[in-house]
Amino acid sequence: ESMNDVIGLNSLQEELRQVLGIKKVLLIPGSYEKNNSLLKDIGKQASKYFLSVLKDDDIVSIAGGSTMLEFAKSIKCDKKFSSTVVVPARGSVGLDVETQSNNVVAEVSKNIHSTYKLLNIPDELGEESIKTLTQEPEINKTLKLIQNSNVLVFSIGRADEMVKRRKLSDEKAKEIMDKEAIGEAFGHYFNKKGEIVYKLNTVGIDMESFKNKRETIAVFAGRKKAEAFIPISKLNKNIVLVTDEDSARRILELT
Ligand code: G3H
Repeated sequence: ESMNDVIGLNSLQEELRQVLGIKKVLLIPGSYEKNNSLLKDIGKQASKYFLSVLKDDDIVSIAGGSTMLEFAKSIKCDKKFSSTVVVPARGSVGLDVETQSNNVVAEVSKNIHSTYKLLNIPDELGEESIKTLTQEPEINKTLKLIQNSNVLVFSIGRADEMVKRRKLSDEKAKEIMDKEAIGEAFGHYFNKKGEIVYKLNTVGIDMESFKNKRETIAVFAGRKKAEAFIPISKLNKNIVLVTDEDSARRILELT
């Protein structure tokens, strides 16, 4: 990597940061679509930033997905964060076991030597079940931790892909896509303007608490997700974005 490449990447980071009006942009050179192994580098970069801002006594909420799993696995940390608690951003049982947020939480917690709480609650619940579950003392405690968490790490999905992956019924998928959902994060589907057009009926992080974190770290790989991320960047200007160079260029094309 030459000096010019580094300067080029730095100015791209700064340009994107300004265009989106967010806190920080960290880029990995290259294109994820051309080289899928960049996901690992992106995860690593995100974990370095995460460790640089993590404090004792922090409450950390983490979303699920394959990007978050890479992030979790790449954390290398000697310090013991024994007074830190890691929680899932929301109930998420039902997706692939390895990538569900509970598993990602356990991996992050192991690597920073902290405590953790899990949330064994499905993606879709009836109104009555939500009421009953949230009154359970153990679950209630975990939900309070999630709302009060001061660090959030999450990834972004394309709405069209997430409705397939979550195996939603054809009607539900159509309902979401008819409302022009474009991006998905922590169970919320957003349209181009950043309005929530649908959210999974489960417990966990809401829009209010999404906006009140000290650190909000968004991680994604690939230009295909660029349009899915833009609306989310409109909702929260405190975001630190970690992605690949090509995705950054794509966001600039689209904005
Ligand atoms: O909500 C977004 C998805 O969890 C992203 O998942 O990292 O597996 O693409 P992924």
